[in-house]
Amino acid sequence: MADLSVNICGIKSPNPFWLASAPPTNTGEQVMRGFDAGWGGAVWKTLGEPIVNVDSRFGAIDYSGTKVIGFNNIELITDRPLDANFKEIYEVKKRYPDNVVIASLMVETKEEWQEIIKRSVDAGADGLELNFGCPHGMCERGMGSAVAEEPKVLAEITSWAKEFSNVPVFVKLSPNVMDIRDPGLAAVSGGCDGISLINTIKSIIGVDLDTLVPKPSVGRESTNGGYCGPAIKPIALHMLAVLGRDPKINVPISGIGGISTWQDAAEFIALGATTIQVCTAVMHYGYRIVDDMIDGFNNYLDNKGMHSANELIGKAIPGFVEWGELDLNYDIIAKIDEDKCIGCGLCYVACLDGAHQCIHTRKGPCNAWHGDPDHGFGPRTEVMPPVWHNGGEPAMNHVPFVDEKECIGCNLCMLVCPVPDCINMVEVSHSGGKESWKDRTTNGSS
Ligand SMILES: Cc1cc2nc3c(=O)[nH]c(=O)nc-3n(C[C@H](O)[C@H](O)[C@H](O)COP(=O)(O)O)c2cc1C
Ligand code: SF4
Ligand code: SF4
Repeated sequence: MADLSVNICGIKSPNPFWLASAPPTNTGEQVMRGFDAGWGGAVWKTLGEPIVNVDSRFGAIDYSGTKVIGFNNIELITDRPLDANFKEIYEVKKRYPDNVVIASLMVETKEEWQEIIKRSVDAGADGLELNFGCPHGMCERGMGSAVAEEPKVLAEITSWAKEFSNVPVFVKLSPNVMDIRDPGLAAVSGGCDGISLINTIKSIIGVDLDTLVPKPSVGRESTNGGYCGPAIKPIALHMLAVLGRDPKINVPISGIGGISTWQDAAEFIALGATTIQVCTAVMHYGYRIVDDMIDGFNNYLDNKGMHSANELIGKAIPGFVEWGELDLNYDIIAKIDEDKCIGCGLCYVACLDGAHQCIHTRKGPCNAWHGDPDHGFGPRTEVMPPVWHNGGEPAMNHVPFVDEKECIGCNLCMLVCPVPDCINMVEVSHSGGKESWKDRTTNGSS
């Protein structure tokens, strides 16, 4: 079994899996249940001057039968008294000294920062996370993502926090910026010890077509919220990788955004995260998901021959390059496994209308079940358009094949094919070595 413990900015965590600052870390009782379930650390629900929340405050997107592929909230920071929060942080650290508790903070003035940092450190927090990410409500009050949009202000507040804190300071970044390097570099210039990213993405999750009020509605109105959950993972991975490969971002990163499984977590770690944080998946399925994360991640590291989680950190970064550095001579084509094909025609249509018109069909054995075991076996000679199998009709057999000379290796057919491993992309050998667009333009050949 690999060693899952990590050390981030001098803070030791039994594993890289942390609860993000959000409803699952709202109270001490919850955080302790999270630790009992196996989470290595928790970033407390953001502390500041307690606010008043609205009803309702969550919205979600379901897609094709899958619930909550994207989640949206208009909740603010803690609505509980600071005294209660600090008392509970103290109690949690006393009972769980080996687990990590990070105090997430958001206040306005320098004096308020000094005061809340002192109270967090006194309560026993292992580190601080400055919340410069919240894209609703708090930004209207000059906090949250309003700070992330102003790199100078962000750097200044970070330097205050460093001045007042004797525990590591993380800056949590907002994705609602043109270039994540701007707030990232500002955080580093302010002296932060680590960066957490991403917070939620400014969004409107939908409109109720009966009432014509955007969602989630507060009576007859709504407002923009913060988008999170599985749908935002690609955006988070990109921002993480951009900072992860930048030599000027010389601090560890805690990766957040759409993580639900050990595979998601491993991808974040491979792109440079030392720890990862989870919110939406815990709100959906509960603390128990960390069990599978620990098991799956352990098995993965064992299979890779890695002895510790640390060995994976940043391993995928060398493979993240600019487009102009990609190999223009690398060729692949689609290969269809006729034995697995059920003749649904999706690859044919996708290639015809959305790619390079190089999948054709011919008569052949059909592997789909139509209730007639004898139907459909014939010579595979006649090129024909696809015929859709519909209830009761004797189904025509139609086997797709790829005109390999015309295939541009785009992946589309493989992506739409509903049968696992039925379409595979295979490499075509060629004599030329690697040549990128940058090579060509430097050589003057393109
Ligand atoms: C209901 C809700 C409340 C949140 N509250 C906070 C908060 O108080 N402070 C904070 O830094 N982030 C907050 N977040 C953002 C999460 O910590 C996290 O950055 C974001 O949800 C992306 O992770 P996920 O895709 O795993 O949910 C909140 C998210 C949700 C859904
Ligand atoms: S890889 Fe693209 S071009 Fe090639 S057959 Fe599939 S969809 Fe068509
Ligand atoms: S999408 Fe897959 S299963 Fe459907 S016809 Fe194409 S190869 Fe066969």
